[in-house]
Amino acid sequence: MILLLEGDKWRSRRKLLTPAFHFKILDDFLEVFNKHSQKLARRLQAKADGEPFDIVQDITLCALDAICETAMGRSLNAMDDSNSEYVKAVTRIGYLVQQRMNIPWYQPNILYRLIGPAKEHDQCLKILHDFTNDVIKSRRKAFQEKKKQGRADNETNSSGQKKKLAFLDILLEYSENGANLSDRDLQEEVDTFMFEGHDTTSVAAAWILHLIGSHPDIQEKIFEEQRSVFLDKGQFVTMEDLRQLKYLENCIKEGLRLFPSVPIIARELKEDVIINNYTIPAGTNVDIITYRLHRDPEQFPNPEIFDPDRFLPENCKYRHPYAYVPFSAGPRNCIGQKFAMMEAKTLMSTLLRHYRIESVTKREDLKVTADLILRSEDGIIVRLFPRKDTLP
Ligand code: HEM
Repeated sequence: MILLLEGDKWRSRRKLLTPAFHFKILDDFLEVFNKHSQKLARRLQAKADGEPFDIVQDITLCALDAICETAMGRSLNAMDDSNSEYVKAVTRIGYLVQQRMNIPWYQPNILYRLIGPAKEHDQCLKILHDFTNDVIKSRRKAFQEKKKQGRADNETNSSGQKKKLAFLDILLEYSENGANLSDRDLQEEVDTFMFEGHDTTSVAAAWILHLIGSHPDIQEKIFEEQRSVFLDKGQFVTMEDLRQLKYLENCIKEGLRLFPSVPIIARELKEDVIINNYTIPAGTNVDIITYRLHRDPEQFPNPEIFDPDRFLPENCKYRHPYAYVPFSAGPRNCIGQKFAMMEAKTLMSTLLRHYRIESVTKREDLKVTADLILRSEDGIIVRLFPRKDTLP
């Protein structure tokens, strides 16, 4: 799978996957993001009574629905059925992998099998793989039938709209057209999108809501921007709306500065590296701790302050290009960053037009934990209040 490949294998896989994230394809996904964001907003009505609750799970289920539909073209209905086998397995496997990383004696396979929860781990994987394989089989069959009948790619659905392709359809097309992608490869890539694509985005959205909910002045500025963009139109967020929501975008960027979903990027050096006249030899494991890097006071004065204006063009002009790297940097950066920004913006815009949010936990009382993903140990506790000002 791309995340763990190296060298030429990584390079050719990355080349193959990059077009699947082209903006024209992402354009199609906007409808999915809108649909699930609006559904989340409706579901939150039941909790918008001023009582505190943890918003992480609600957002995670919404992000799972969005990624499942965009990655596999299949609806998961996680928001309606959070107890489904698949949803439980996704949550559980994340916990088990992290637990294994934290417990040194769980790392050798033999010990994990003898004294660790290997059986449960395998059961979760089986549920996840069976689901993906099932989707791959049925999509491949449909694809081959379509090809046999010579139907065009720009087929329409029953309501006359152009059928949207999921990532999997695009990869299937490549594999049917000669690219070297087995069903196993497809399954690994789609599973990677499922994981990389829901947890990172949902924790980011939850942290950003925490920050916005702690800064009523900033929240009002966001709402003013929403008012100016959405006043005379429906709820649906278009590409043009996304382009106009500049202040919201800067809030998201600033949120990812303070709480980067991927707090540590780890590498093993393949060659010696010289930094400040010190040679770090090949073979050394190095960590880039984005959580710390993003708090460098030389690049971000008063680094703990949540200030979206840091991302105004005039304030970024002299910043070091690698001072801010929530999506990593260079050729190995996050392939899904545009996808993530589109999803986060659509979600935030929809929620913040419907509700005013108040953070219950104070910044200084947050228990931030850095596992694979940056989380708050006690969740993100908020209060929601329906907006009285009528906006779509
Ligand atoms: C706020 C959301 C996200 C953040 C902060 C984020 C961050 C990152 C970071 C820091 C990396 C580099 C990791 C490393 O090299 O160790 C990465 C890689 C990657 N991300 Fe994301 N990501 C996000 C959302 C997504 C989404 C939505 C997808 C897919 C739909 C995705 C797919 C990937 C993939 C496939 C890689 C591996 C790329 C490669 O190795 O060439 N990410 N991401």
